[in-house]
Amino acid sequence: MSQDAPPLDRAAATRPLPKPGILDIHPYVPGKAKAEGFAQPIKLSANENALGSSPMAQAAFESAEQSLHIYPDPRASIIRTAVAERYRLEPERLIFGCGSDEVFQLLNQTFLEPGDNMVQGQYGFAAFAIGAYACQAEVRFAPEPGYRIDVDELLKCVDARTRIIFLANPGNPTGTWIPFSEIRRLHEALAPSVVLVLDGAYGEFASDPAFNDGLDLARTASNVVVTHTFSKLHGLAALRIGWGYAPAEIAAAVDRIRLPFNTSIAAQRAAVAALGDEDFQRASLELVEIWRPWLTQQLGGLSLEVVGGSATNFVLVGFPRTAGRTAAEAEVFLASRGVLVRSAHLYGLEDHLRATIGLEDQNRALVEALADFMKQ
Ligand SMILES: Cc1ncc(COP(=O)(O)O)c(C=O)c1O
Repeated sequence: MSQDAPPLDRAAATRPLPKPGILDIHPYVPGKAKAEGFAQPIKLSANENALGSSPMAQAAFESAEQSLHIYPDPRASIIRTAVAERYRLEPERLIFGCGSDEVFQLLNQTFLEPGDNMVQGQYGFAAFAIGAYACQAEVRFAPEPGYRIDVDELLKCVDARTRIIFLANPGNPTGTWIPFSEIRRLHEALAPSVVLVLDGAYGEFASDPAFNDGLDLARTASNVVVTHTFSKLHGLAALRIGWGYAPAEIAAAVDRIRLPFNTSIAAQRAAVAALGDEDFQRASLELVEIWRPWLTQQLGGLSLEVVGGSATNFVLVGFPRTAGRTAAEAEVFLASRGVLVRSAHLYGLEDHLRATIGLEDQNRALVEALADFMKQ
């Protein structure tokens, strides 16, 4: 954001002008969904669930057909109760949103005013900063050496005007994670006035015992919010539903600005059903656990550098400059073969592509296409 631009006289302008900073925001770029010449490309560009969604969730979604004329429950009570029971949380401390994206936006809006700053990692998920800039706050990017969040670097960015820290664990687009001991160390070093948001969108895919999504800290801390989504493990990205677990005071403050009907009846019902479908969740995790190491090993064999230790349903693939083939060229080549992956250049990772772990034939198609590309 151009902080130094002279203030505009918006009242004297010949047309309505957005408030300062808005037009400097880079709009969110979603993963590509189309490949020319392919009616159904292999879409590995948005970290969706390769297995689709739970049949139980689909049936619940269909049941909403009879209720299209009715406003949804503004408290989202059925999913509130289900999440509270499943994770042993106090229902009144839950915030539901149109995806966890909306929970981030609500937190930014609640805590940031012009002159404040938000701190995140260098490769932090784009939605964090978009929401902070919209509040005319400064965004501070802490270096992530080795593509990993570094607590000391985050702390170096914090000052008296820091109101919020966003930390996706595991991260997107890096796929890396930090242990709970580091999260605790970060929390202990923060003033109690700073909100620490732990985004667990991919937390379910992290199987190492040293991983913890932070709920155990959030239960007792007065400044920690943990978010989760139904878009990834549960495969409900289209329905836009996510949640946050916050201290009661934060949940109550957020509730004052939340749009009253921000999650739909279909989303609430499908999310309850998805949460109860443990078979689907298990199958989704197994798919990732089988193919993540396979992809890592195969891509490594092509002289590509898979960023180590992905704890997510995707891998971040580096194209070494010495290989003479760039990530941008690879993205175009893969699309010509009907395989869509995600460029990471907007995160400053020009030499990397991010690929979602797909079904067996999709993963094999990705590796074959990349092998052909590297041979060229
Ligand atoms: C790190 C991270 N957090 C949050 C989200 C947003 O998820 P939702 O679909 O719940 O808005 C994503 C989506 O890709 C993500 O990658």
